[in-house]
Amino acid sequence: MPGADHAMTALAAVLKQRIDATGPISIADYMTECLMHPTHGYYTTRDPFGKTGDFVTAPEISQMFGEVLGLAIAQSWIDQGAPKPFYLVELGPGRGTCMADILRATKNVPGFHDAASVQLVEASPTLRKIQSDTISHPATHHDRIEDIPEGPIFLIANEFLDALPIRQFQSSGDHWHERMIGVKDGAFVFGLSKPIDILAHRKGNTTDGDIVEVSPAAAAIASRIGARIAKDKGVAIFIDYGDWRSLGDTLQALRSHQPEDIFANPGKADLTAHVDFEALNKAAHPALTSPMIPQGVLLERLGITARAQALAKVLSGETLEAHIAAHRRLTHPEEMGTLFKALAIYPPDLPAPPGFESL
Ligand SMILES: C[S@@+](CC[C@H](N)C(=O)[O-])C[C@H]1O[C@@H](n2cnc3c(N)ncnc32)[C@H](O)[C@@H]1O
Repeated sequence: MPGADHAMTALAAVLKQRIDATGPISIADYMTECLMHPTHGYYTTRDPFGKTGDFVTAPEISQMFGEVLGLAIAQSWIDQGAPKPFYLVELGPGRGTCMADILRATKNVPGFHDAASVQLVEASPTLRKIQSDTISHPATHHDRIEDIPEGPIFLIANEFLDALPIRQFQSSGDHWHERMIGVKDGAFVFGLSKPIDILAHRKGNTTDGDIVEVSPAAAAIASRIGARIAKDKGVAIFIDYGDWRSLGDTLQALRSHQPEDIFANPGKADLTAHVDFEALNKAAHPALTSPMIPQGVLLERLGITARAQALAKVLSGETLEAHIAAHRRLTHPEEMGTLFKALAIYPPDLPAPPGFESL
């Protein structure tokens, strides 16, 4: 594997030892260790955001992202009868920028802040600290969504699901084989498991050799949230890159804004996979789900251009140019506008949140 053995990361050594001792591991195990290993994991050990980090997310590109989504969440809260108290939840809040923007944009919505209890689901101790520093409102951290007490949840998750572990299955005849990770001549290699009888519903829409990705963790989260929202009300907005119905290998590693081999630097590169929005839609039942809306369309519907024009009035020179570029980056089809999609989960018999109507 190019580049892998010259400077083997500490985590590569740990994983190779484990595979030597107990046999091949699933891609889900590899992702979990790479991202969340307590001492060598990517998220557990660093702040990966920004120009000097490995990637830039939408809330880090512009405050407008969190602002317009915050107002959509507040409108949804009003449409549902302004339940009090309620939980304002973010899954995987990164630096806390999106939640800070949501709170600032909604501060004049009557009763919203008084009723809101901010709950953050975050696995990384490093990022938890940064979030507490960024968000001025009192906030409670949790390891898992199940730890948030019963009650209505108004939730946002941007680029959270793509960090959850996936399993990959390759089609052959009537069966599927799971793609597993082993070690050969000291390097990580892919192999295939024995045939497994699963994914019967994908046989009609795949051919031999096709790869299908499944994220049991993402489906479990959508299912828990769907059950909660159907029972206690609320709304959940997921934004991520991905598409309707998984097909093909989308697992990728990113380091210093460059893609690299997923085996090159385990624990030092970000690992992500595209989100399967059809799987979320299925898992969220009995709650309702909106159509899958491209990020650019959603932000335009929520008024990002009017907000951009208002902010532009007080800007000039390089700051104005950066602001215009940020608006384009978030919305343009050739940038994040089409690649990223959004899906909302909401209660039966209540309206979809603003922006999530059918296309
Ligand atoms: C790509 S970052 C996105 C951050 C932020 N939402 C943004 O848009 O800037 C993924 C976030 O999810 C967190 N995360 C990843 N896997 C997690 C898990 N299994 N449980 C809780 N948090 C997780 C990471 O630590 C990080 O905060």
